[in-house]
Amino acid sequence: MSFSAEWLALREPVDHRSVSASLRAEAAARFASRSDMRVLDMGCGSGSNLRGLAPFLGASQHWTLADWDERLLAHARAALMRWADEAREEGEALALRKADKSVRVDFLKVDLARDVERALDAAPDLVTAAAFFDLVSAEWIARFAQAMAQRRLPLYTVLTYDGRESWSPAHDADSAMLAAFHLHQGKDKGFGPAAGPAAARALADAFAAQGYDVRRAPSPWRIGALEGAPEGALFGELAKGAAQAVRETGALAPALIEDWLAMRLDAGIGGRACEIGHEDAFACPR
Ligand SMILES: C[S@@+](CC[C@H](N)C(=O)[O-])C[C@H]1O[C@@H](n2cnc3c(N)ncnc32)[C@H](O)[C@@H]1O
Repeated sequence: MSFSAEWLALREPVDHRSVSASLRAEAAARFASRSDMRVLDMGCGSGSNLRGLAPFLGASQHWTLADWDERLLAHARAALMRWADEAREEGEALALRKADKSVRVDFLKVDLARDVERALDAAPDLVTAAAFFDLVSAEWIARFAQAMAQRRLPLYTVLTYDGRESWSPAHDADSAMLAAFHLHQGKDKGFGPAAGPAAARALADAFAAQGYDVRRAPSPWRIGALEGAPEGALFGELAKGAAQAVRETGALAPALIEDWLAMRLDAGIGGRACEIGHEDAFACPR
C-alpha cells in the first residue's frame, strides 16, 4: 500500500497537536540523562515523526528513518532539510541542527514485513513509529514484540487508529459506514490481514506478554471543516477516503455512500467536524 506525500503533509500538523503530550513526556524522561541517543522510526513516510519528537529528546540524536517507499524517503530528506535551521549532506546521511538539537539522519529502505529484524539490528536505544501499526497484522505484531524483547528495546508509538469515529452532524448511515470501513481496514497491507482498529489493543497485549510495562494514552484527531482552513482540506480528504474504502467493500448501497459523502462535503452545512480515535503507547522492558 502506498501513501502520497501530499496526504502525509496534510495530516502532519494535526498529528503533531494530537499526540499525547503526557505520554511523550514520559517517554522523553526515560532518556533525559542521555546526551546521545539512537532512534529507529519505522514506516517514517516523509519524516513527520522525527519533526514531532526530536525537540523533546536529548541534545545529540542519531535517527534511522526506515520505509520501503523510496519516493517517500526522498521526500523525507527534502522536508527535513527545509525543517532544519542548518542542514548538511554527509554522503547518504544528513547532519541537521534544529534549535539546540543536533540530529544525524540515516535512511534505510527496507520491507518491514519481511526484514524488521534487520532494522532492529541497527541497535537503536528507542524504536518509534507513527500511524503505522494499524497496517500490520496481529501475527506480525507478536513477532515484532518478540524481536524487541530479545533486544530489550523500548517502543514509543503514536497515532495508532483505534476504530472510534464520530462525525457531525450525524447521518443515518454513520454506523453502517464505520462497520464497512473497518472491513476494509482489515485488508492485507503487506503484513497479512491488517489488525486495523484492533491494532492498539493487540500491540499492548503482545508487549505485556513479553513482560513489558505498557502505558497507553488516547490521541484523537479532532478536526473541523472550516471553509478555506487547511483542516477543511484534511476533513474533505478523510471523508472521500472513507467513502472510497466503503465503496471497495461492496457492503453498502452506492446511493447511501454518495448521500453520506455529499453531506460531509456540503460547505453549506454548519458545524461539520469529526473525531477519529487514535492511541499512543510507550512500552518498556521491565
Ligand atoms: C500512514 S503512513 C505514516 C507515515 C509517517 N510515519 C507519518 O506519520 O507521517 C505509513 C507508512 O508506512 C510505510 N510502510 C507501509 N508498509 C511498509 C513496509 N512493508 N515496510 C516499510 N514501510 C512500510 C508506508 O510507506 C508509509 O510511509
